[in-house]
Amino acid sequence: MSVIDVHSHFVPRGWPDLGTIAGGTGWPRLEVESERDAVIMIGSSEFRRISDECWNADRRLADMAEDGVDVQVVSPTPVFFSYDRPVGQAVKVAKVFNDLALEICAPAPGRLIPFCQVPLQDPDAACAELDRCLAAGHAGVEIGNHVGDRDLDDAGIVTFLQHCADRGVPVFVHPWDMPESPRLGRWMARWLAGMPAETHLSIVALILGGVFDRVPDTLRICFAHGGGSFPFWLGRLDNAWRRRPDVIAGSVLPPSAYMGRFSVDTVVFDERALRLLVDTVGVERVLLGSDYPYPLGERPVGELVRKAGFLDEPARAKLLGGNAREFLARP
Ligand code: CO
Repeated sequence: MSVIDVHSHFVPRGWPDLGTIAGGTGWPRLEVESERDAVIMIGSSEFRRISDECWNADRRLADMAEDGVDVQVVSPTPVFFSYDRPVGQAVKVAKVFNDLALEICAPAPGRLIPFCQVPLQDPDAACAELDRCLAAGHAGVEIGNHVGDRDLDDAGIVTFLQHCADRGVPVFVHPWDMPESPRLGRWMARWLAGMPAETHLSIVALILGGVFDRVPDTLRICFAHGGGSFPFWLGRLDNAWRRRPDVIAGSVLPPSAYMGRFSVDTVVFDERALRLLVDTVGVERVLLGSDYPYPLGERPVGELVRKAGFLDEPARAKLLGGNAREFLARP
């Protein structure tokens, strides 16, 4: 049984000037400081310091060997999604990063599995870029959990999800673009509290927005970070669905009836939380993820699942790879 990590990210070691390629200003750029170190800059401010695990397949494979991971899904870093840009610009930027993803993964076919990004603000353009990427070698798509004020039940986004369901393409949903405020600007509160809330809201939107009622169960969709704060609050959601149908009832069935329709990853760092995930979304719907190579990710990858005392061996094997194999399988 292969161990499969469905949540990792890449950043290329450089890319063409995006203003020249796509137009517009204020694009992310990379300041390379050494063979191993670089900084993603947005304008004149530092967005994130990164190192060569982001682009170097040999480094990734060495870390995977150390952690006992056979396969890694390699997804974009959300800062490049460009959903707030004119669609023509976002199409060009998606193509740049998607093509670079193929180059980064090329040394290890079948072991480094690229997921693409799409210009999700425009369903036609998103479907077209997805199809181009699938033909070029991508195995799935990572999307941000919202497009401005549009959530995952937005008609255009549902059109894209329907396309993914029709083509049997796995969709990985990553929180991004968390609100900024003085309260969220301290510590890493946008990552520590904002991200889980973003993911929570997106799952609520899929359920109460009736998306699971409209899109067939061939949609394979997985949420990062254990589904954020959603799993802890499913009871509250069910209670509200029953008690406040005047404002809540957007789904045909109570929210808990849709467990089994989506997956979550295991990046929750606490056995009690992992157990809640398995109990809530189902043992078939929890997939190993790490957030490699970023500092809020798990290392060694899979440690929580390997050590979790409540899992029997068949369940552990599902979380470590069996579930991901089904998530990734193309019809
Ligand atoms: Co991530």
